[in-house]
Amino acid sequence: MKFISTAALFLLLQNAAATTPRPNYEAFTNVTGSKDDRGVCQCSVYLPDTTFPVYRMEALELTAQKLSKKFESELSKVSKYTQEIEIYEKRILNLTSRIEHMERTSVTYTELDFKLMRLEISEMEKLVTQLKSTLTGSNVIVEQLYEEIKNLSLMVNELESLDKHNILAIRREIQALQSKLQECEAHRNQSTPPVHYFPPGSCGHGGIVNISQPYMIQLNWRGFSHKWGAWGRYSSPLYPEKELYWVAPLNTDGRYLEYYRLHDSYDNLLLFRHSNQFRIQYGEGSGMAVYNNYMYFNAHGSRDMSKLDLNSNNVVLRKTLPGAVYNNRFSYAGVSWQDLDFAVDESGLWVIYSTEASTGNIVISKLNETSLDVISTWETKQYRPSVSNAFIVCGVLYATRPVNTRKEEIFYTYDTNNGREGRISIIVDKMLETIQSINYCPIDRRLYVYNDAYLIRYDLTFQPLSAV
Ligand SMILES: *[C@@H]1O[C@H](CO)[C@@H](O)[C@H](O)[C@H]1NC(C)=O
Ligand SMILES: *[C@@H]1O[C@H](CO)[C@@H](O)[C@H](O)[C@H]1NC(C)=O
Ligand SMILES: *[C@@H]1O[C@H](CO)[C@@H](O)[C@H](O)[C@H]1NC(C)=O
Ligand SMILES: *[C@@H]1O[C@H](CO)[C@@H](O)[C@H](O)[C@H]1NC(C)=O
Ligand SMILES: *[C@@H]1O[C@H](CO)[C@@H](O)[C@H](O)[C@H]1NC(C)=O
Ligand SMILES: *[C@@H]1O[C@H](CO)[C@@H](O)[C@H](O)[C@H]1NC(C)=O
Repeated sequence: MKFISTAALFLLLQNAAATTPRPNYEAFTNVTGSKDDRGVCQCSVYLPDTTFPVYRMEALELTAQKLSKKFESELSKVSKYTQEIEIYEKRILNLTSRIEHMERTSVTYTELDFKLMRLEISEMEKLVTQLKSTLTGSNVIVEQLYEEIKNLSLMVNELESLDKHNILAIRREIQALQSKLQECEAHRNQSTPPVHYFPPGSCGHGGIVNISQPYMIQLNWRGFSHKWGAWGRYSSPLYPEKELYWVAPLNTDGRYLEYYRLHDSYDNLLLFRHSNQFRIQYGEGSGMAVYNNYMYFNAHGSRDMSKLDLNSNNVVLRKTLPGAVYNNRFSYAGVSWQDLDFAVDESGLWVIYSTEASTGNIVISKLNETSLDVISTWETKQYRPSVSNAFIVCGVLYATRPVNTRKEEIFYTYDTNNGREGRISIIVDKMLETIQSINYCPIDRRLYVYNDAYLIRYDLTFQPLSAV
C-alpha cells in the first residue's frame, strides 16, 4: 500500500466505518473468569462475528492494492510521456535552430532538406496528437508543443517559397513528368506482351535487343567547354547497393584527365552537392572506368594502366599493357586520345585497345583487377578507328558508329565466350554529335554516356536466350 498515503487510507477506513453497524459493547461484558491451579486468572471474551467487518476490510485492502497498482502504472505512463515530451522538445529546438540557420545563410536548400524536415514535423505532430488524446484534460505543455509544431510547419512552407533558384520547382516538374511516364508505361503494359526481365548480374539472356531514349542528367560540372570525359556509377559485386557516381571531364585539351568528382547519391549528383573533388596527375583520354573502389585509367603519354584508390586518391599500381599502342595512334573515330578504354561488366575488368600487331583492329583483354595482369586476350577483325566507342556486357563487346549527328548505331559485337563476331543494328538517339565515352554498369544495367559535355544515361533491353 505504499502508494496510498496515510490520509487516503484514513479516508478509506473512515468510509468503511460509516457503513458498518456500531459494535455492540454489551457483548464485551459477557466474561467468564476463573483461576487456574497456579492462581493465574483466566478469562474468555466472546466476540460476535458481526462486530467488525473483516471481510469488508479484506475487500478494501484488495481494492487499495488494485488502485495502487493502477496508480503505479499511470504514474509510469506519465513519466514516460514526460520523457517523450522532453525528447520532442529537444527535437523541436534542434529543428528550430536548423531552420534559423537556413534563414541566416543564403545557400539554397533542396527539396530533400525540406522533405526530411516535413517528415520529422509530421511525425512529431502525430505523436503529440496521440499524447493529447491520452492525457485527458488540458495539458499546457502538450498544447504548447502542438502550437510550436504547427508553427514549424508554417516556417518550412514559408522557407520553401523563398527558394531562389527554383530548383524545387524544376525537380517537381521532373517528378511529375516521371510519374506521367510511369503511368504511360503502365498503360502500355496492358496492350503489349510482357517484357522479358533478367535480374542484374545475371547473364542468362541473349544480349542487347534495344535501348531506351537518352535520359539527360546534366551538363558536367566543369562546363560546356569540357566536351571530353566520362562518367558512371560505381560498380562492385561486394557492394551491389552502393550508390556512388563518378564524373571525370577531361581538361579542355581533350587529352588530360586531371580532376574527377565523386557523389554519394543520385540526388547529390543532380544538385552538384556534397561532392568530393580530387586531382590526378595525369590520366589520358576518356577511357577510364571505376570498379571495386578503384579507378582504372591510361597513364598519360604511355601504354601504362594506372589503378587509383578512390578512398585515398593514390595510384596504388601502374602496369604496362603489353603491345598496346598509345599517343592517339588508333583511338576511336571522332574521339582522340582514347587508346586504352577500360570496361566493366558482370565478370570484372576489361581493357579495349589496339596493337601494332593487330594492325589497328580492336583487341580485348580481360584483366586481373588486383595485379592488372592480362588474363586472356581476344583479337577482333574490327578496325578500331572506324568505331566511335565500345563497351562490354556479359563478356560481349558492343561497338558503336555514328549514323548522323543525332543517331548512333550499335553495329558490331564480339563474344569473348565463343570468339564469334556479329552484326546488329540498334539505333541510339543522342543529344549531341559525339559520344565521348560509354560506361556500362552491371548493377543497374545502364549505359552512362558522356555526350559532348553532357551526362546522359540509357536503359538496355535484353532478349531471352531462346531468341538467339
Ligand atoms: C454469557 O455467555 C454464556 C455462555 O455462552 C451464556 O450462557 C450466558 O447467557 C451469557 N450471558 C449474558 C448476560 O449474555
Ligand atoms: C540536430 O540533430 C542532428 C542529428 O540528429 C545533429 O547532427 C545536429 O548537430 C543537431 N543540431 C543542433 C543545432 O543541435
Ligand atoms: C510562432 O512563430 C511566430 C513567429 O513566426 C512567433 O512570434 C510565435 O511566438 C510562435 N509561436 C509559438 C507558440 O512558438
Ligand atoms: C510494366 O512492366 C514493367 C517491366 O516489364 C514492370 O516493371 C512494371 O511493374 C509494369 N507495370 C505495371 C503497372 O504492370
Ligand atoms: C526500341 O526502343 C525505342 C525507344 O525506347 C522504341 O521506340 C522502339 O519501339 C523499340 N524497338 C523495339 C523493336 O522494341
Ligand atoms: C589476381 O592477382 C592476384 C595477385 O597477383 C592473385 O592473388 C589472384 O589469384 C589473381 N586472380 C586471378 C583470377 O587470376
